[in-house]
Amino acid sequence: MRTHYCGHLTESLVDAEVTLYGWVHSTRDHGGLVFIDLRDREGIVQVVADPVHVAMFNVAENLHNEDVIEVRGMVRPRPAGMVNATIHTGKIEVAAMKITVLNRASALPFQIDDYNKVTEELRLQYRYLDLRRKEMAHNIIMRSRAAKVLRQYLDEHGFIEVETPILTKTTPEGARDFLVPSRNFPGEFFALPQSPQIFKQLLMAAGFDRYYQIVRCFRDEDLRADRQPEFTQLDVETSFMSEEEIMNLIEEMIRQLFLQVLNVELPNPFSRMTFAEAMSRFGNDKPDLRIPLELVDVADIVKHTEFKVFSDAAKDSESRVVALKLPKGADLSRKDVDGYTDYVKQFGLKGLANIKVYDLKAGLAGIKSQISKFLSADVVAKLLERVGAQEDDIIFFAADKVETVNGAMAALRLKLGSDRNLVEGGWRPLWVVDFPMFEKDKHNWTFRHHPFTAPRSDDPEEVLKNPEKILSHAYDMILNGTEIGGGSLRIHNIAMQLAVLKVLGFEEERAHADFGHLLKALNYGFPPHGGIAFGLDRIVMLMVGAKSIRDVIAFPKTNTAACPLTNAPSPATTAQLADVGLTCIVKDKK
Ligand code: AMO
Ligand code: AMP
Repeated sequence: MRTHYCGHLTESLVDAEVTLYGWVHSTRDHGGLVFIDLRDREGIVQVVADPVHVAMFNVAENLHNEDVIEVRGMVRPRPAGMVNATIHTGKIEVAAMKITVLNRASALPFQIDDYNKVTEELRLQYRYLDLRRKEMAHNIIMRSRAAKVLRQYLDEHGFIEVETPILTKTTPEGARDFLVPSRNFPGEFFALPQSPQIFKQLLMAAGFDRYYQIVRCFRDEDLRADRQPEFTQLDVETSFMSEEEIMNLIEEMIRQLFLQVLNVELPNPFSRMTFAEAMSRFGNDKPDLRIPLELVDVADIVKHTEFKVFSDAAKDSESRVVALKLPKGADLSRKDVDGYTDYVKQFGLKGLANIKVYDLKAGLAGIKSQISKFLSADVVAKLLERVGAQEDDIIFFAADKVETVNGAMAALRLKLGSDRNLVEGGWRPLWVVDFPMFEKDKHNWTFRHHPFTAPRSDDPEEVLKNPEKILSHAYDMILNGTEIGGGSLRIHNIAMQLAVLKVLGFEEERAHADFGHLLKALNYGFPPHGGIAFGLDRIVMLMVGAKSIRDVIAFPKTNTAACPLTNAPSPATTAQLADVGLTCIVKDKK
């Protein structure tokens, strides 16, 4: 029986006899002694084998990395000069009395500590080896702790955990569905849930009042560093609470999470910002508030300049002209500026004018700019004043359609923040509220949050008439520039739900075919309700400082949504296909 984890041994156990189980992290032969770094999920301890125990020493000499062994021994202080302050167990070692090999490891595809010398694909193929690394073990353990704190908080606040189906019907959250063919109904398909949205609403109709679930969601969408095709939500729904009450309850949950897991005190309350303000000041709806750079509208100032790029955009209601001041940025070289210009071009911006400020009092004569010949002293003075320019600043300008300017300048803001080391330390949580209810996708209206979000209007006619004007009761939680959660009050009125679906292009018949289970329930005493869902993977990723969401998921998918460990996805047999009434026509196999 194990007495201790390797990583837990300290000098308080000196002279204790211990039994340890673990993996041989490494061995060293020194002056007749064999030193074994023995590792388990909690850490590493040094085991020393002395040749006086002949049989045991023989075993120790023949150990290979990653062999699994049992060690019985005595804890003793390390000799003076041998203390390793960098590890928890660094003041002690274990003098081995008996070493038993429980299993051997063959030559490894990569050494555990050399993980960064191999591709991520290989690491994922041998994920169980990759997970033996202390960073990965730490991430997975932190994830478990985070989930525990969240569960505990919700439990203490009267929430009930309920499981919802995985084989189900489409739940639109803006991504493509994963489909599962049905054997009993050949030619028909289940969809895996993009979220439990409709079920959690139905649980409110059922009277459960406060629900949560840590639940797998499936979205077949293009992957990025913070997206996986299957990911985990902390999903929450409540009845009879206002938007304000839900946000307060949930905000406290996140504060408790950071306090209990990281010992970090998040601000109380979190900052709040409307969607419109976020777009205007930062160009996107998930601003990283740690970066002290902002977009400033200057259309009114440049409306009558001779630089047509500016004046044309300034006169067009669908365009924007903005300035972005980088303090002390006048030292940027021509090459640097060209680099940033090329960078914003990826986002469709055609150029990136700038002004370098050398002598503030000299006005037009004190600046340097490719477009100075178009600018009057008065315009320059107003621009400098608007952005609060100081000497040695550079001010970038962008003029184009609103979406182009926002996309490009939001990205430039992040890039300048990281290139110039402007990202402040700490945690900057933010609620973004007052989202528009709908947005235009080419010519059609689509939802911004999901089709069940309550509009900030009680009048279905108004929603049908002026969809572009309607804001919603949706709220997103942003942490350091990442959207970690999003939720809303929901529609609980059938006429409103039908109106919203109609704006989205679902005529009544199709609305009933797709969402009949929800629509029917709206007629049988549906309470006012609302909720939120957090991306658990994303929260943990931020908490542990991981660069990729894959580093906080035990068995993640690659960027092409494949699993190198199991080789999934893989072809089905002809018999399996026949069972579900399918034939497979593969057009172009990769
Ligand atoms: P939403 O679609 O905003 O809302 O999702 C909630 C949160 O889930 C996380 N998330 C993801 N994480 C990893 N990989 C993905 N592909 C992925 N997609 C989303 C994000 C996001 O904030 N039903 C609503 C919630 C509600 O209204 O209560 C919903 O799913 O952190
Ligand atoms: P041009 O007249 O194209 O040589 O552009 C003059 C300056 O304006 C260059 O620095 C361009 O990078 C910049 N510029 C061009 N188009 C835009 C734009 N849409 N927004 C901001 N600056 C621009």
